Amino acid sequence: MYIFKKVEDLKQYLSTLRADGLKIGFVPTMGGLHEGHISLIEASKRSSDITVCSIFVNPTQFDNQEDLQKYARNLPTDAQMLGKAMTDVLFAPSVEEIYPVDLETEIKLDFGQLTKVMEGRFRTGHFEGMVQVVSRLLDIVEPDSLYMGQKDFQQVSIVNSMLQQQKRSVKLEVCPIIREPHGLAMSSRNERLNVEDRYNAGAIFEALSQVKKKMGTTNVTDTKQAVLDRLIAVGFKPDYFEIVDGDSLLSIEKWSESENIVACVAAYIKDVRLIDNMILVKV
Ligand code: PAJ
Repeated sequence: MYIFKKVEDLKQYLSTLRADGLKIGFVPTMGGLHEGHISLIEASKRSSDITVCSIFVNPTQFDNQEDLQKYARNLPTDAQMLGKAMTDVLFAPSVEEIYPVDLETEIKLDFGQLTKVMEGRFRTGHFEGMVQVVSRLLDIVEPDSLYMGQKDFQQVSIVNSMLQQQKRSVKLEVCPIIREPHGLAMSSRNERLNVEDRYNAGAIFEALSQVKKKMGTTNVTDTKQAVLDRLIAVGFKPDYFEIVDGDSLLSIEKWSESENIVACVAAYIKDVRLIDNMILVKV
């Protein structure tokens, strides 16, 4: 595996591969890698000739400085995992490489309600920072395909809208959520949970699974309340539990309102904020 830290070195290397007709798959990450990230690498390897993974803890998408400070950083371990998964290229730039002082990197696009609902209500500026870095990384890597996880459902919707608005030809591939054996969605933040909390956090998946199983038998409002009550009962502090249309991300009031329904949740267990979601119906 080649490791690049400088934008120009990576661009030069990739341009020679592109000239040889090789297809590039790209997996952007913030490190703290786990099986969820590796599943994206594997998806890329299945359909691309060269797989590039970036590790960059993007300061502009953190609304909470403490979260940024505490974010898992372990480049040697991450590099080892990527090597084992036969990743071709690791790009691990500094903040100065991604945001040089003389380069305008802010992205001024209108995402309508996509950036305002759910995470947008609780994490001011998060999506603006995420869009800024993904756009910058795409300009550098110029991949044929981009691999992202359904784990961050709203992120994927916004990136999809960004790609359309910027008229980029890159193909977005959305990969399924990888979970721990008891159902907790894998996340770099899970490392900050103690054994008991990590086990209890399985209640999120349990609640989502119950909603999927029972959907239609109780109305949407009561379903949402029951999930919130359940999460609070096992010690969570939920930010939201929403049942939304998977395209508009707007809350639905009746099950019959949409043919693409997703349940999305964000909740704290102690000071660790977890997000998860489940596609309930997709026609
Ligand atoms: P990060 O949280 O490191 O996630 C990188 C990618 O891995 C995202 O596409 C995310 O959805 C995916 N992922 C995380 N957990 C997963 C799981 N359990 N199963 C499957 N995929 C999972 O998301 C980001 O970084 C950043 O916002 C980024 C896009 C890199 C921009 O900074």
